[in-house]
Amino acid sequence: MTETLRITNLHVSVEGKPILHGVNLKMTRGETHALMGPNGSGKSTLGMAIMGHPKYEVTQGAITLNDANILEMAPNERARAGLFMAFQRPVAIPGVKMADFLRHATTNVRNPERKEGEDLIPMREFRKELRSRMEQLSIDPEFARRYVNDGFSGGEMKRAEILQLAMLQPKFAILDETDSGLDADAVRLASLSIADIGGADMGLLIITHHDKLLEHNHPDYTHVMLGGRIVETGNGVELAKELHDHGYDRIRGAYPDAAANHEAMEKPNQTEIAS
Ligand SMILES: Nc1ncnc2c1ncn2[C@@H]1O[C@H](COP(=O)(O)OP(=O)(O)O)[C@@H](O)[C@H]1O
Ligand SMILES: [Mg+2]
Repeated sequence: MTETLRITNLHVSVEGKPILHGVNLKMTRGETHALMGPNGSGKSTLGMAIMGHPKYEVTQGAITLNDANILEMAPNERARAGLFMAFQRPVAIPGVKMADFLRHATTNVRNPERKEGEDLIPMREFRKELRSRMEQLSIDPEFARRYVNDGFSGGEMKRAEILQLAMLQPKFAILDETDSGLDADAVRLASLSIADIGGADMGLLIITHHDKLLEHNHPDYTHVMLGGRIVETGNGVELAKELHDHGYDRIRGAYPDAAANHEAMEKPNQTEIAS
């Protein structure tokens, strides 16, 4: 069966402020989609809404994974159903070691029926797998003993996100600016690693401003978001290259309504002005 993640007419508000205004997107497992768009157009909001972040309220529309209504699931159930997001700004969890975090997460995602307190993946087995994944991604073994994202450099955080992707092996992964804060060599390594992990089996939604991350992850489709909507979709990587080389002026000109929405979203709201 072809597995499909389908987003239909999605409207999302954050703290009562409408951010997404009817997003449509269909992804099939095995496909790579690039998502571009100026800062503040709603790319991260789309990811957060797919993952079920409580601050991102879906006011209209649908998200389904095959026949399942994702919107009815808690974030941990979504992860168990095969959804994953590498965050643009990952949070630190001081006191929780990377290895323990990954062992819990991996166990839970692999055994959807597992209840709190039941056995984890056996330590030896897990360590072996973690070590080989870290080797594959050229990550220092010391990393496993550090607290999650605590004092990590920007690059280390992004690598930690890719390591999670490798361990969890989701059906669909959203990678939110996984190249930001990385130097050119690190972006190349990230691009290769993602291709290596994702293979032909994962659906990838790669949010990026550059085409470097796409070098080894050739997009089947490139989407442009503006003012909380996907305004244009192109086949392959051509559109990504155009936007990278020439910016978003053509897009703003072609979609004045979305551009006006974008301007309005950029403005602080009245309560922020008052406080
Ligand atoms: N957690 C949040 N709290 C308040 N506003 C938010 C939050 N997340 C997103 N927004 C607002 O939603 C709009 C879109 O942001 P975002 O989805 O981060 O855009 P992008 O990822 O395309 O840069 C912005 O105006 C931003 O300020
Ligand atoms: Mg973002």
